[in-house]
Amino acid sequence: MALAIRVKKEKAEEVRKLLLKLNLIDPTHLPSSNDDFIFFPIKKSIDEKTKQDIAKKFDANFVEKRMKRKLIQKFSLPHFDMIGDIVIFEIPKEFKDKEETEKIKAAREIAENILKQHKNVRLVAMKTGGVSGPYRIRKFEVILSRGDNSTITIHKEHGCRFKIDVAKAYYSPRLSYERRRINSLVNDGETVFVPFAGVGPFAIIIAKSHPKSTVYANELNPDAYKYLEENIKLNKLSNVIPIPGDARDLAEKYSNKADRVIMPLPMSSDQFLDVAFSLAKKNCIVHFYYFTNSISAAEDVVKEAAKRFNRKIEILESRLVRDYSPEIIEVVVDFKILD
Ligand SMILES: C[S@@+](CC[C@H](N)C(=O)[O-])C[C@H]1O[C@@H](n2cnc3c(N)ncnc32)[C@H](O)[C@@H]1O
Repeated sequence: MALAIRVKKEKAEEVRKLLLKLNLIDPTHLPSSNDDFIFFPIKKSIDEKTKQDIAKKFDANFVEKRMKRKLIQKFSLPHFDMIGDIVIFEIPKEFKDKEETEKIKAAREIAENILKQHKNVRLVAMKTGGVSGPYRIRKFEVILSRGDNSTITIHKEHGCRFKIDVAKAYYSPRLSYERRRINSLVNDGETVFVPFAGVGPFAIIIAKSHPKSTVYANELNPDAYKYLEENIKLNKLSNVIPIPGDARDLAEKYSNKADRVIMPLPMSSDQFLDVAFSLAKKNCIVHFYYFTNSISAAEDVVKEAAKRFNRKIEILESRLVRDYSPEIIEVVVDFKILD
């Protein structure tokens, strides 16, 4: 219960100004009203004499009342990724170098606020490192949940559903625009290869909107591959062919088959340009994702590889995908293999 002053509506503004001046409004609760009266929450430290004076002057009275608590946020919500009903946030800079207890306190407060403001979120985790290793796995620590701590979720994107264990396989909602962009470039009937397919977002979105296309989706991480297979079924697709293992092994078996190759492994896709050249039919289009410091540096990598492997190429478009770190950007270079 909170202490409140009950005042007629026509006198409310005058009372509010006086309460503010005397610093008597309780900031932890919200005012409320009914047809005739306004209730202002009052600090319990108010003395009896002041109470009586205000009550007499404004024909008001003090009551104990259940009042809504104000949501107090000490800092704004940080940037976060929402994957299905899981949120992974980054601790704000001002807490990064603080002592562990202070950091954990801030993390809990952020997680509580996220759960309060997003009723569809089940689990909130804090990023504890960058995406790392050959499988590109996120590092995080679960801070709060609504009781179920599972890191498996179902994420919806562009009309498709993706089951993912965010602790065991890569998925980034930040690439959603790229998936839509590439999908809009595909002509139905094309044979598309997605080495580095993860749990299948590029492959499945393309296959669903291009039923006459065949999409080959390759993945090295056995956990991500398991979800790729599940997601093909979840989206009821018969035109995605999953291939487990190293993308390097595609080169020989599927040589000269691809109308399009998508290479979403920005950390080391340059090491696989020879695989793309091998998969490519004449006029095949390649989407090359790459971490670098400039768009022209990414284009140079593509041009040098074409020279090395004696292929003719035309760069169609190069664009910034996102800032990855203060010094590194992710770039995509779309190019056509002309021979
Ligand atoms: C950055 S993730 C992209 C996943 C997915 N395409 C997406 O957009 O969410 C790169 C994926 O490539 C896989 N990978 C890494 N090296 C590979 C290789 N040599 N052959 C096949 N897949 C590989 C990783 O396990 C990871 O799932």
